Amino acid sequence: MQKNIESVLIEQRRFEPDPAFATAARPSATEVVRLRERAAEDPQGYWADLARTHLSWQRPFTVTLDRSQAPNFRWFTDGCLNVSWNCLDVHLEQRGEKTAIIFEGEPGDVRKLTYRELHAEVCRFANALSARGIGSGDRVVIYMPLVPEAVIAMQACARIGAIHSVVFGGFSAVSLKDRIEDAGAVCVVTADGGWRGGNIVELKAATDKALTEGCTSVRDVIVLRRTGAAVPMKTGRDHWWHELVEDMPTDCAPRWVEAEHPLFLLYTSGSTGKPKGIQHASAGYLLGAKLTYLWVFDRQEADVFWCTADVGWITGHSYVAYGPLAAGVTIVMYEGAPMFPDGGRFWRICEQHGVTILYTAPTAIRALMKLGDEIPAGYDLSCLRLLGSVGEPINPEAWMWYHRVIGRGRCPIVDTWWQTETGAMLISPLPGVTATKPGSCTQPLPGIEADIVDDAGQSVTTPEAGGYLVIREPWPSMLRTIWGDNQRYLDTYWAKFQNRYYVAGDSAHRDADGYFWIMGRIDDVLNVAGHRLGTMEIESALVAHPRIAEAAVVGKQHDIKGESVFAFVVCRGARPMGDTGAFEQELRDWVTQQLGAIAKPDDIRFADNLPKTRSGKIMRRLLRAIARGESITQDVSTLENPTIIDQLRG
Ligand code: WTA
Repeated sequence: MQKNIESVLIEQRRFEPDPAFATAARPSATEVVRLRERAAEDPQGYWADLARTHLSWQRPFTVTLDRSQAPNFRWFTDGCLNVSWNCLDVHLEQRGEKTAIIFEGEPGDVRKLTYRELHAEVCRFANALSARGIGSGDRVVIYMPLVPEAVIAMQACARIGAIHSVVFGGFSAVSLKDRIEDAGAVCVVTADGGWRGGNIVELKAATDKALTEGCTSVRDVIVLRRTGAAVPMKTGRDHWWHELVEDMPTDCAPRWVEAEHPLFLLYTSGSTGKPKGIQHASAGYLLGAKLTYLWVFDRQEADVFWCTADVGWITGHSYVAYGPLAAGVTIVMYEGAPMFPDGGRFWRICEQHGVTILYTAPTAIRALMKLGDEIPAGYDLSCLRLLGSVGEPINPEAWMWYHRVIGRGRCPIVDTWWQTETGAMLISPLPGVTATKPGSCTQPLPGIEADIVDDAGQSVTTPEAGGYLVIREPWPSMLRTIWGDNQRYLDTYWAKFQNRYYVAGDSAHRDADGYFWIMGRIDDVLNVAGHRLGTMEIESALVAHPRIAEAAVVGKQHDIKGESVFAFVVCRGARPMGDTGAFEQELRDWVTQQLGAIAKPDDIRFADNLPKTRSGKIMRRLLRAIARGESITQDVSTLENPTIIDQLRG
């Protein structure tokens, strides 16, 4: 089906959809045209129909979209429902005995839960939370390994109307503390540890550290026994999960909440200040997660769906904990590192559990690609029928490898563009409908009014000309606000074009076929191995070190991680000379302690000062060029200290 050969211009390659590709839940090509027309003519009617068809309401809504506080949009406002009911109870009759979760721990332990068992566990934990006095609107921080209990805890919160905030287990105690405090959480759910790369990630120890100072809102810490390692338990505050749920009933009436009731907060990096708590609403979010699951992954009853993301990220929220469960399919969860104990782990999991859909990040694809074709060739991947990519631009070479070596040329690839803020995929091919091009996320899904605009907010119509990626009309799964800081919500996403469109923070261009190509972030946000990191956060962490006076962080291309962290550092006193290896390591450890290992700089360069304009602004573009080893084309005449360039070049 490949139209062009690999040696021609990469943008020319195009893969036509296979009309024979099974269609179960996704719309056909003709239906897509009809959906787009309907969405354009009557967007509210379009979304209302979908919300009535795909969600189970306790009280139906009559108001589809409330624009009165725009750009704080509100959807389905007078309706009531429960998210966990929509993910679990609705399946009990028809799919009670169907496997909901196939879990594989890093050490190789496998556990399966049917929908009925998952429902019972969620109910027991929901009852345990209620028994601790946790109720509707309370914030619960979940800091766990990627085990079924992480999903159980999320669903249990949803069941009682508590607002969860999952903190990725790779984040440090300091990051955890910041998030607990910002959210004002009353409870932390954690584990004695989790397995990663053959080691134990000490989640309970980090929780204890986070709670030693501040975090006065936290009354309870619930600890799952996962590794069996001994952990200190603080009387009165700490409780074992298994003890709390022991006598709890396996049924728990859901708390019906209004459509706009916050379902969760998820902290993500922005260009300034501390991470922001992205707030999502119950009904709109679930509609987005479920609908995109049905359409983009072409839901089929027999599917075994594996999204490799951790529930600490939005991808793990929408395509592990909510979307696929709402769609009633079987999911795979794998706790550990992708290369542990060897490069065949991913493919062994696919083979053993009969994975039919694999959804992963370009960084993982590139890392696995580097190991060669022989490893995946040794596994039976014939169950796979569809492949997905998310989190960062996928380079055409990695796309082709994924297609050829993993998909064996048979499986369509869906390159899905979306964000923590968008709640669900917004731009993506539909398998069997959309022709794909390696490196392009193709076209907006029906109902999504994506556009590319210039600085003046005018639509860019010239093919290949870049601009700001914006969404012109509200959509149900959009973020509602930033927790505790609506002004920041307005400033970050809406101010640039006077509240006219949602500004994604990415640049993009469109080709002559109207296909979208994401170019990257336009703000000071790095994308390291598919994870969003604010340069400011890393700079603040560095400057918090007693020997550091000033720091500037930029991204540098990296062939596996996409981008890596490059730090320019000015020390208090004299610049370190000679062998600085030990000090660099100390700084890396320091950043790991402050933020987490994902934020640690690969490169550190010491200088007497940083290149600044006379008005005192750090010239980041210049630093980026230096980090990338590019020649300097910028005008440096405005630099206050032009001689610094040679020193920075190292
Ligand atoms: C980037 C992850 C290119 C983009 C779901 C976005 C992508 C940021 C793609 C959001 C893609 C995500 N192609 N870039 N298919 N998907 N991105 O919030 O820069 O962790 O703004 O959400 O990842 O990252 P976040």
